[in-house]
Amino acid sequence: MDKLILHGPTQLSGTVAVSGSKNAALPLIFCSLLFDGEVNFTNVPRLWDIETTLGLLESMGAKTHWNKELGTVSVVPKLNSVVAAYDWVRKMRAGILALGPLVARYGEARVSLPGGCAIGARPVNFHLQALEKMGVKVFVEGGYIRAQRLGPLKGAVLHFPQVTVTGTENLLMIASLAEGTTVLENAAREPEVIALGRVLQDAGISIEGLGTSRITLVGGKLVTPKVPIRIPPDRIETGTWIAAAAATKSELRIVDCDVEEQTAVLAAFRRIGVPIQVVSATELAVGRAQSYEAGEFQTEPYPGLATDMQAQLMVNLCLANGVSRIRETIFENRFLHVAELRRMGARISTRGNLATIKGPIQFQGAPVMASDLRASASLVLAGLCAKGVTEVSRIYHLDRGYQKFDAKLRALGAQVERVPDSSLG
Ligand code: EPZ
Repeated sequence: MDKLILHGPTQLSGTVAVSGSKNAALPLIFCSLLFDGEVNFTNVPRLWDIETTLGLLESMGAKTHWNKELGTVSVVPKLNSVVAAYDWVRKMRAGILALGPLVARYGEARVSLPGGCAIGARPVNFHLQALEKMGVKVFVEGGYIRAQRLGPLKGAVLHFPQVTVTGTENLLMIASLAEGTTVLENAAREPEVIALGRVLQDAGISIEGLGTSRITLVGGKLVTPKVPIRIPPDRIETGTWIAAAAATKSELRIVDCDVEEQTAVLAAFRRIGVPIQVVSATELAVGRAQSYEAGEFQTEPYPGLATDMQAQLMVNLCLANGVSRIRETIFENRFLHVAELRRMGARISTRGNLATIKGPIQFQGAPVMASDLRASASLVLAGLCAKGVTEVSRIYHLDRGYQKFDAKLRALGAQVERVPDSSLG
């Protein structure tokens, strides 16, 4: 395992390009299972989760090829198994996205229950309840979901009790090959859901309401995409660079991003006093501010403030004048970064899903441990603006979702090195 060693405080300068979106790439690559021909992708980010996804597809018999330098992936989804094994799904919960396509195309699937992770129990009951309403028999036994189509899949009116991103994505994929009309109520509005829906539309499926909480889809015949599917830019990486520039009081240009997806993030950082200019539809310029003001924030499903940006915003609120609050409404245990930030001098208290942050403080360098993907990003941001040396261990969490994050930081002038972490057994 590796760790990062950061020397702070440091400033960033220059321009950073945003890579392809992890949370768009995963459903899009799983969606290739719906087709009977080769499916190609471009702008695929170089992440552990992509490695795991392609390994899972290969374990079911698919042929995949990944040119990591070019960021291209091809998948020939000729399967000889419909089992998404525990060994793969335990590495990446998004393996649950195999369920919809396998049942839709092969009529059956055995998918390991994803299990929880650091940020919460992460159940998939909404996925399973929706599948049953479409005529799929679902058994959960031995840590696996066994799903069996009992006849032709029938469209249905489905209501999600809580907004679920991968639940919406799974049901879009299965409904594409169902007979008749499916309506998803309280559907997720995330851009990655829209990206998946557009690929299905281009493949011949009639879908209305993408980006709204009510999506209507008429199942039909899928035509294998002839042109490569381009992975859209990562909206959370974009927000993370805004947070990095703000935390280090740097001027930073962020390019190859999709500005219109950043509305809630821009509003949050502007509210605390970070000057951000929209240069074009794909470029932002973060300016330098002398100080930041405290504020009250709440994470929400898109288009609200993303839960995946909560830890990064929290670092900036530690630097703001006054008492700030963040309410985490999506996951039940997504404050694991708080204890580590406290060890760097943060004055944060939590009660249930509410974090109260007192600022401004000066972070002090310290050895800290990453617990989940976005928490690891927040520890790196704190290390950049801390006085002294910060060592962030277990950064495989970071590598799951950020392409070459430390290399991009070095290119912007940060003093950060990646070394093997011999201290961990
Ligand atoms: C997706 O996870 C993202 N992952 C997460 O990003 C993101 O944090 C999350 O959506 C929320 O935006 C991918 O897209 C691969 P949910 P997902 O189903 O789909 C509860 C990152 O850092 N729920 O929208 O698994 C659930 O417990 C990752 O990139 C049920 O109770 O999240 C949670 O409280 C972390 N039953 C809430 O709904 C279900 O069947 C939202 O979960 C499904 C969800």
